[in-house]
Amino acid sequence: KLIVAAGCALAMMAGTLQAKEWDTIRIAFDVPYEPFEYRDEDGNLTGFEVELAEAMCDELKADCEFVIQAWDGMIPGLLARKFDAIMSSMSITEERAERVLFSEPYYNTPGGWFGREGFAVDVTDKSAMEGKTVGVQRGTTMDTYVTEELGGTVTIKRYTTADDMVLDLEGQRLDVVFVDYPVGEQTILTKEGFKEVGEPVKLGQGVGVAMRKRDQGLADMVNGALRKLKNDGTYDAIMQKYFEY
Ligand code: ARG
Repeated sequence: KLIVAAGCALAMMAGTLQAKEWDTIRIAFDVPYEPFEYRDEDGNLTGFEVELAEAMCDELKADCEFVIQAWDGMIPGLLARKFDAIMSSMSITEERAERVLFSEPYYNTPGGWFGREGFAVDVTDKSAMEGKTVGVQRGTTMDTYVTEELGGTVTIKRYTTADDMVLDLEGQRLDVVFVDYPVGEQTILTKEGFKEVGEPVKLGQGVGVAMRKRDQGLADMVNGALRKLKNDGTYDAIMQKYFEY
């Protein structure tokens, strides 16, 4: 009896500990990556994923703590417990899924090609692309794609931040950039003199929240919250604020 009672007490403790563990969820963003995560004029963190994260934490009655993390340190930072989840437009890929646990996808974004008005080369034509300079954010699915498809043909410039890449396109140090479509649409096409220069390319299996493999409990909570937000219209409302489609 004593043993059973002790077992029960332990189970109860484990239960409370488990619940307590996710009083706070630390979520990482790579900023700026407009419209997903960026700062508004007052310097406040905003964007589709920032608001989605807030709604998710509300739903889970947990505190959200936001951590700014450079893209190339995302997975190492997660594994080193600097934060508990990545919501940084991270595409679900098999390679990443070996190291992290993904939620169900909450968004889908193809890679988009953007360049200056005068750019007249077909980006799928390898010989025409010979010698062109292509910008990508280092360690992204766009980086992998360009490296595999055009490595050796074009000069690939890899950037730590997406905004440095856009600056180099404006400064004519790049011929084209290949970036998550909505980012190009909202940070390049909104400027004078730029256009889309190729068909969007599907990369990855949608975008998901990335967590540590051992945190299946958190992943279950996140998936439950995402489903709830999709069903009650919150997700659509946030979506409409940041995307015009
Ligand atoms: N979707 C791309 C990938 O998963 C790029 C994401 C980059 N995200 C960011 N916040 N910089 O590789």
